[in-house]
Amino acid sequence: MKTSESEYRVEMTGISKSFGVVSVLENVNLKVKPGEIHALLGENGAGKSTLVKILSGVHQKDSGKITLNGQEINPKNTHEGQVLGISVVYQELSLVNDLSVAENIYLHKLGASKFWMNWKKITEDAQELIDSLGFEIDAAARVRDLSIVQKQVVEIAKALSEDTKVLVLDEPTTVFDPTDIKKLFDNLFKLKAKGISIIYISHHLDEIFKIADSVTVLRDGVDTGSMAVADTDADGVIRLMIGRELKDLYPPRNVQVGEVPVFEVKNLTAKDTLVHDVSFSVRPGEILGIAGLGGSGRTETAKLIFGAHKKKSGTMLLNGKEIKTNTPVCAVGHQIGFVSEDRKEEGVFLPLSIRRNISVTNFTGISGKLGFINTDNEYKNVVGLIDKLSIKAPSSEIDVKNLSGGNQQKVALAKWLSVDSKVIFIDEPTRGVDVGAKVEIYNLINEVAEKGVGVVVISSDMPEIMGISDRILVMYKGTIYGELPKDKFSEENILRYSIGKQLK
Ligand SMILES: Nc1ncnc2c1ncn2[C@@H]1O[C@H](COP(=O)(O)OP(=O)(O)OP(=O)(O)O)[C@@H](O)[C@H]1O
Ligand SMILES: [Mg+2]
Repeated sequence: MKTSESEYRVEMTGISKSFGVVSVLENVNLKVKPGEIHALLGENGAGKSTLVKILSGVHQKDSGKITLNGQEINPKNTHEGQVLGISVVYQELSLVNDLSVAENIYLHKLGASKFWMNWKKITEDAQELIDSLGFEIDAAARVRDLSIVQKQVVEIAKALSEDTKVLVLDEPTTVFDPTDIKKLFDNLFKLKAKGISIIYISHHLDEIFKIADSVTVLRDGVDTGSMAVADTDADGVIRLMIGRELKDLYPPRNVQVGEVPVFEVKNLTAKDTLVHDVSFSVRPGEILGIAGLGGSGRTETAKLIFGAHKKKSGTMLLNGKEIKTNTPVCAVGHQIGFVSEDRKEEGVFLPLSIRRNISVTNFTGISGKLGFINTDNEYKNVVGLIDKLSIKAPSSEIDVKNLSGGNQQKVALAKWLSVDSKVIFIDEPTRGVDVGAKVEIYNLINEVAEKGVGVVVISSDMPEIMGISDRILVMYKGTIYGELPKDKFSEENILRYSIGKQLK
């Protein structure tokens, strides 16, 4: 590597960028040393992804200067960025579903030389790379068949298949459970020891204080400060992020939880997934948490109930009456809601506007009970939700694909919260959402519960699930392994049940 005249690996100075008339970054600075983990923080829409996309060549800056090892660079596309050694794991997964894991990892080497590629060797190399990360994935498997966590690991492997000097991770842990996060962090420490610079974007402040050496905070496209992590704390960075103190992350609830369950499942067993003998009930106004490690069957259980997976046996009761949900349409007809964890694939319609996205759930509400909404009310409802969830967008007519990741998540949630449900399953409600907006989402979930809806929240975020639930079920190997009442909530207890152990 060329000897550097600067102590920094990457220096971005005075970066500005507009999309049309909307200014997204104004005079932003970011400096990262070799072998340093540098956290990039800010609320949804603050400009974090845009800044790193300028570094990697996805977008071009309007003004400012970028240097790599003291040399000015201006990557015009991601290929140029990669050649310079800048690899990014983007917030939106970008794998090709129909190719194998190995093909995805070495996709950049495809093209003209395709016929000269030694695919056996490439699959072996890919397998070695994945094994070195400590995750179990078959390099010959098709990406379509992987779980969302495995897809994310492939993204990381892909970024490391280059001669990487700067690795950017844009919210890499949002889909990971605590054991996966630990593995990822171990990998990052190894890369750091090799002198690789890491830019780490996350809304989990606890992660920042575990792994980062320094931090830069953005607010509305302006950088509000850079400092060593040792010189600040969570309150300090929150103040720089949102410009005020945050009082209560988990707002107090004022709900009368009903006695009689609104919804019950008994011995529910899936035909095609590991889910078996799942029994639980949820009462009106109750917020029931479902915890567990990735692959324990939490999402599969919700999808089974929602009619997206086939059932083998078991019964479901809504207000004491047996119901069947063989398809999602039946489930919606029974006023069962489901907010998917997979925002891009199932959560929102990217090419449609915010208004159309929020309203579409109402229109597909099939059941005559919901009826059609008139445009005036529709508009009011949508604008109200945009305001309530502080969705950052110039208008309700903007296409969802142009929103920041966290704001897309809020639209996905708003879609379902605008429908009258009797029971609603919310899978990872605040994935990718900033601290300020988290509070808004918790408030909204509380409001839904106050209406007497049974709310089931699946979450890998430990503080969150303990902060909002009345009761927590923990899944292990496809069934409910343990139940924790509020006075037994602790990370240790959740983890013990998650790995099939009893409480101490
Ligand atoms: N291609 C685009 N066209 C128009 N506007 C865009 C485009 N990409 C991003 N924006 C806007 O730029 C602003 C910053 O978005 P960016 O994705 O950088 O935010 P972020 O800090 O990464 O947020 P999050 O935490 O939600 O991921 C947002 O208001 C977004 O709507
Ligand atoms: Mg982003």
